[in-house]
Amino acid sequence: MLIRAGEAQFPLPQQPQVLEIGFGDGHFTAQIARLYPEWQILGVEKSAGSVARALGRFHREGIQNVWVYHGQATFALRNLVAPRSLHKVYVNFPDPWPKAKHEENRLLQRGFFQRLSTRLAEGGALLLTTDHEAYWHFAQAEAQASGLFTIETPPPPEFHLTTKYALKWRAQGRRFYYAVFQKIAEDPTPWPPIARYPVPHAILTGSLPRLNAFEKTVVRFPGGTAVLLEATQALSPEGGYYFHTHLEEEDLVQDLLLEARPSSHGLYVGLSRFGAPLSTAGVRATVAWLVSYFEAQGLQVKQRSY
Ligand SMILES: C[S@@+](CC[C@H](N)C(=O)[O-])C[C@H]1O[C@@H](n2cnc3c(N)ncnc32)[C@H](O)[C@@H]1O
Repeated sequence: MLIRAGEAQFPLPQQPQVLEIGFGDGHFTAQIARLYPEWQILGVEKSAGSVARALGRFHREGIQNVWVYHGQATFALRNLVAPRSLHKVYVNFPDPWPKAKHEENRLLQRGFFQRLSTRLAEGGALLLTTDHEAYWHFAQAEAQASGLFTIETPPPPEFHLTTKYALKWRAQGRRFYYAVFQKIAEDPTPWPPIARYPVPHAILTGSLPRLNAFEKTVVRFPGGTAVLLEATQALSPEGGYYFHTHLEEEDLVQDLLLEARPSSHGLYVGLSRFGAPLSTAGVRATVAWLVSYFEAQGLQVKQRSY
């Protein structure tokens, strides 16, 4: 039920028709999964702790029709969901980012609505429940500006008010706000899944230098940035180094390992499979930088696969 993006097919073969963004403890997800066993539900949550708790809940409750992606909503929408496939998207109590200078972090912005329109089926809708009146108005203004949705604001259905946050705010006597954004048109800009490549690597000849003084390095490439944070020595008898790398590309942030290690063919320099990373254009560019780093130290490339 947990989807590992590095190993998943894009879009998912399970074909979810329902998406929940930011499911928190998974209480609401479990509820709709039980109510509608015929739905395939994709739940997306960026907090690892919440994902672990929700997976435990789904397992305990024997829920079979929920797929969980640990990561960012826009990544899931772009890559895991097929065009025009979603009938419902639930967003319950999204982080409000109340300060004006943080508004750019809000999920429900015009650009998001444009992209959402490409993944919603005809007549499909996003259902927002929030305690935050300002965000409720903000989301409506953003959807309106996209010109792709009609908006209705009936009272929230009672069963939307049973999430962890709903119960918390209810206990404090807060008001709730609800909006249904129904797709009426589609943004024409193509938004294909992110391109993936075979694992990039090179085989080098020459002896691996000691990297005692490897310094944090920023690698820029078209569409993103990688930061090689540090090099740590492998504990295996063959030796080698792991490079802790933070990679940011459009709709995707990855923390991954590159490696340089002796192999039977020569020195392998490339992406490590640890953590099921996605092999993207940014990974290729970063591996290319690392190979050139070793070339500058006198090693020679025997074979290059990127
Ligand atoms: C205020 S909590 C609400 C949780 C739950 N929906 C509820 O009502 O109890 C917001 C949740 O959204 C998650 N979240 C925020 N932005 C996200 C994003 N861009 N992608 C995935 N999850 C996100 C947060 O980690 C958090 O668990």
